[in-house]
Amino acid sequence: MAIRKITEYPEEVLAKIGKPVTEFDEELKRLCTDMFETMYSAEGVGLAAPQIGLNLRLFVMDCEGIKLVAANPEIVSEEGEQSGQEGCLSVGKVPAVVTRANKVKLKAQDIKGKWFEQAAEELAARCFLHETDHCDGKLFIDHLPKLRREMVVKKFQKEKKRK
Ligand code: NI
Repeated sequence: MAIRKITEYPEEVLAKIGKPVTEFDEELKRLCTDMFETMYSAEGVGLAAPQIGLNLRLFVMDCEGIKLVAANPEIVSEEGEQSGQEGCLSVGKVPAVVTRANKVKLKAQDIKGKWFEQAAEELAARCFLHETDHCDGKLFIDHLPKLRREMVVKKFQKEKKRK
């Protein structure tokens, strides 16, 4: 097990559309173990493969009692609306209000390659959407109006310099 280095905005891998996961083997298991460990150590509730520098459609999550590995994730339904604070480990956890669907259904493959569907609402739904976005090369700041996006990026860069 190992804690991986978290890639940060504007590293290129974060803006790439991930490649599908095709091998459901021991290596994938080890990778997911590392991803969980990296996520917990950074006190996050979700972590996608591009955030540790891998161009792969894969995320792990432990949020509101939903703990899972999602390979090749897709959002198959969205309902309602919620607005709330959101942050990302790749953008220094600088928070911003993002409006997203309130109820979603995720379809993905588990660690063994078996397809499953999982419904979620509120914070867990937000997490599904945020992490699936990462697999599509999209960050939460891409949902923000230009000025607010620039403010988040500036704050992140300022805090990063201080460290
Ligand atoms: Ni994120």
